[in-house]
Amino acid sequence: MQDFLIHPNLNINEQGHLTVSGQDCVELAARYGTPLYLLDEQLVRTNCRAYVQTMKECFPEGSMPLLASKALSFTGIYKIAASEGMGTDLVSAGELYTAKKAGFPLEKAFFHGNNKTDADIAFAMDSGVGYFVVDNLHELIAVNSEAVRRGIRQKILLRLTPGIDPHTHKAITTGTVDSKFGSVIENGQAEEITLQALSMDGIDLRGFHCHVGSQVFEIDPFVQAAEIMLRFIKKMQDTHGYAAEYCNLGGGFGARYLPCHPQPDYVSYIRALAAEVNRICDALLMPCPKILLEPGRSIVAAAGTTLYTAGSVKHTPNGKTYVSVDGGMPDNPRYALYESPYTAVNASRAQQETELLCSVVGRCCESGDILQENVRIAPVQRGDVIAVLTTGAYNYSMASNYNRLPRPALVILNGEQNRIGIRRETFEDLVRCDEN
Ligand code: LLP
Repeated sequence: MQDFLIHPNLNINEQGHLTVSGQDCVELAARYGTPLYLLDEQLVRTNCRAYVQTMKECFPEGSMPLLASKALSFTGIYKIAASEGMGTDLVSAGELYTAKKAGFPLEKAFFHGNNKTDADIAFAMDSGVGYFVVDNLHELIAVNSEAVRRGIRQKILLRLTPGIDPHTHKAITTGTVDSKFGSVIENGQAEEITLQALSMDGIDLRGFHCHVGSQVFEIDPFVQAAEIMLRFIKKMQDTHGYAAEYCNLGGGFGARYLPCHPQPDYVSYIRALAAEVNRICDALLMPCPKILLEPGRSIVAAAGTTLYTAGSVKHTPNGKTYVSVDGGMPDNPRYALYESPYTAVNASRAQQETELLCSVVGRCCESGDILQENVRIAPVQRGDVIAVLTTGAYNYSMASNYNRLPRPALVILNGEQNRIGIRRETFEDLVRCDEN
C-alpha cells in the first residue's frame, strides 16, 4: 500500500514516479540536481491563509499570525508571507537582515531571542522592527537604555514562562518553569518585570508572549497556556491598572511526518483554541486582547520535500541494509539531533511494493549521519531518486557545511513557473570566508 502519500500535494504519475504538486520528482532531480529542497508555494500559501483568515474570523481585530522565521528563513519565504498578510517572528539579526532584504514590512516583525546583544538591539532599532519580545530583566534594561539614548519609546512584549509541559521532545519544549526562556509567572518574577517595564521611559509595554513547545498535536497545552496568560493579564489590569493590548501564544502546531500521524487541520485547531480563549476571557469578565500566534512548522514543513540520488546499497552480515544518498545530516540534521521520524520514498519506483527494509544514510564520515532508520521503501538501484517528505521546516534553516558539503538549492514549485528560491552553493562559496 502506498501509504506514504501523506500530504495532499503528493501523488504518483503514469511513469510510476512520485509527484509533488503535480511535478515529477525524477524530472525535477534531473533538471535541478540533487540533493534538492523543494517548497510547494501553493501549500505554503494555503497554510498562511488558514491562519490569517481564521484568526481574523475568531479573534479581535489586529490579531495576526507571525511566521516563525527559525523554521525557514530566506528572502523568498518573507515575500510569500508578506503577500499573505502574515507578520513575522525573528530570532536573530541575521533573520532580521534577510527579512529586511526581502522588503518585509518590519512594523509587523517581532524580534525574539533570549540574549540579544547590544549590537542586535541597535540594529533592530535602526531597521525599524515593530516590537521586541524581551526575555528577561537584563535585556529589558539594555533595550530601555538604547531607546532612551535615541529618544524613542520601543514597543515591546515581555516573554513569560507559563510552566506548561506539552510532552514533546525535551529539546523543543520551551515553556516549563526551568526553561532558559522568559520570566516565570508562578513565583512573581513576571509581575516584577512588568512593573519595571511600565516604569521605564524608553519602553512601551504592549503585552505578553509565551511559547509552550513544538510539534504538538493536542490543543490542550495551548489552552492551558492561554488560561495562565489571560489570568496574568487580568491580574495586571486589576492590581496595576495595566491593560495588555497583545497576548502572543507562540507557535507549535504539529506537522504530519508519518502516515500514522494525524492529518492536521489548522483551521479547526485555531477555531477550537479561539473558542477556549473567548470562554476564558468571558469567565474573567475581560475583553479578549489581540491574539498573536507564531507558526513555523505548520506553515512550511509539509510543503517541503528533499530529493536525493541513491548511491550504494549495502547489506551487512547481520542483515542490515544501508541506502546511501548524496546528502545527509548537513542538509537535514533532525534525525541525528532528535531522532525525528520521516517518511522516505523511492520516487523513481513509487508504484512498487515497499519491501526493502533499510536505513537511509548520508555521505558524511560519521556513523550518526542517518536520515532515517528502518524504513520500508521500494527496492533501490544506484541512481534512483529518493524523496524524504515533510522537510520544509528546520531543515534548510539548520543545515551546515559539515564535511564541506555545499548546501543544496531550494526550488519554489509553482506550476510551470518554478523559481530558484536559494541557489545551490558552489565550492567557491565554501572558501569565500577563508582568509589564509
Ligand atoms: N515561537 C517561538 C518563541 C519559538 O520558540 C518557536 C519554536 C516557534 C514560535 C515556532 O514553533 P513551530 O510552530 O515551528 O513549532 N529545531 C527544532 C524546533 C525548535 C523549535 C523552537 N521554537 C526542530 O527541528 O524540531
